[in-house]
Amino acid sequence: RKTDNQMLVIFGASGDLTARKLVPAIFDLFIAGQLPENYIVLGASRSNLTDGEFRKRVIEESPFLKKKIAKVSEEKVKEFSNTFFYEDLGEDYDTSYDRLQKRILDLDNKFGTGENIIYYLSTPPTLYEAIAKNLADQDLNNQTNGWKRLIVEKPFGYSLETAKELNKGLQTYFAESQIYRIDHYLGKETVQNLLITRFSNSIFEPLWNRNYIHHVEITNAESVGVGKRGGYYDKSGALRDMFQNHLLQIVSLVVMEPPISDKPDDIRNEKVKALKSLRIMRDEQVLYDNTIRAQYIASTINGKKVKGYREEEGVDPNSTTETYAAIKFFVDNWRWQDVPFYVRTAKCMPTKVTEVVIYFKSPHHQLFQSSDMSSKANKLIIRIQPDEGILVKIGVKVPGQGFKVERANMDFYYSSLEETTVMDAYERLLLDAMQGDATLYARADEVEAAWEFVDPILDYWKNGKDVRMYGYSAGVWGPQNADNLIEGIGMWRNPEA
Ligand code: BG6
Repeated sequence: RKTDNQMLVIFGASGDLTARKLVPAIFDLFIAGQLPENYIVLGASRSNLTDGEFRKRVIEESPFLKKKIAKVSEEKVKEFSNTFFYEDLGEDYDTSYDRLQKRILDLDNKFGTGENIIYYLSTPPTLYEAIAKNLADQDLNNQTNGWKRLIVEKPFGYSLETAKELNKGLQTYFAESQIYRIDHYLGKETVQNLLITRFSNSIFEPLWNRNYIHHVEITNAESVGVGKRGGYYDKSGALRDMFQNHLLQIVSLVVMEPPISDKPDDIRNEKVKALKSLRIMRDEQVLYDNTIRAQYIASTINGKKVKGYREEEGVDPNSTTETYAAIKFFVDNWRWQDVPFYVRTAKCMPTKVTEVVIYFKSPHHQLFQSSDMSSKANKLIIRIQPDEGILVKIGVKVPGQGFKVERANMDFYYSSLEETTVMDAYERLLLDAMQGDATLYARADEVEAAWEFVDPILDYWKNGKDVRMYGYSAGVWGPQNADNLIEGIGMWRNPEA
């Protein structure tokens, strides 16, 4: 695919994300020769920095680039660094846009970037609409000469209502086709591989339905707590922070029907349909039976004391924000009727892992004895991170007399593909946006459909009667009560590190 000459304007450029994720991603693209001939980055934010200071901060002295820089020559780093510029927006974003416009046009003229611009909003979401408006007021959204694209970071709203407002606000100034909502999970190789696994393998797709699948389990565990992000997290919680976006995106790829082509909108249309078919839970009892929330409490892990969530910096000591969420739900459509989905996400788990497990039904008639329950059924495990790969569990005969069945693994790990480096999610997504490919970006209707499902749960957790907040010691697999969700089926699969 062709990558036009272009400029990237980052709002909130002095923030953490720019140094930690964006600049390393651009650096990797630069080293891999994937940037167009004319490419520059203009950082903009309220910090008072010169071009030189900005370059030092995000490149030359950045701890996030140190290792990468060490592998290339000084000239190469200089060449890269010289393509970075900075504009101080001052305290008041509104009055500084004249200056910003002049700077953009000057730089564009000087470096031949063809008036193709990506605006990357890495600011608090409360500023998104105002920035879009200010850009439009300066005619910086105009696509007569060159294209303009707007990338926005999550959270996309705080609820269905606020998400709708945000979408409407942005769409006042930019067309939906210009808006790229980034969900970094979609940039992960193994998340994309879900589509390939399903639609390129005739051994899986015919079985991918209620006739053969018993249930689906998705686990997203992080070993760390909220760290320094307590202030943000306490207003968000696991359901908003991970489930509404990343996990429901994964769900949509597991659930969706085959798209008619690999074009962005053909894929996204199917994802929206999938999200719209999630059975919305409104009944208090249904919510009580199918949702579990919890908070981590202080504990000692490997001799080290770990704080409880309510003791974390920036967190209200009486907080009712969940750091663990487990949800059981159903999908109301032809393919998935009555197949339970179990999805959980949490901080302070024993390990960091994200995986999708498809549990197939056992053969109708059990001819042979199994050494244990789990070997009776086939499992397909899609390992999203770490140790990206696909694991298939099949039953094999235990050598010796008789017919005993034991579980065996047929595993594939990405790391075994020699000379393949898995692209970082941000690198992949940025390159896609640079080339105008929105397949891996969330569309407004996808975001809204996801909120539609999540809103009643949040509402019940906030206002419902007798809603429990369980505790779990930091470093264990969540509260025991979460196993009750899965009752009759067994327990959650708790993968090893
Ligand atoms: C972010 C959340 O979107 O994803 C964080 O805000 C979380 O709370 C992070 O830690 C997890 O991302 P990854 O790629 O490390 O699984």
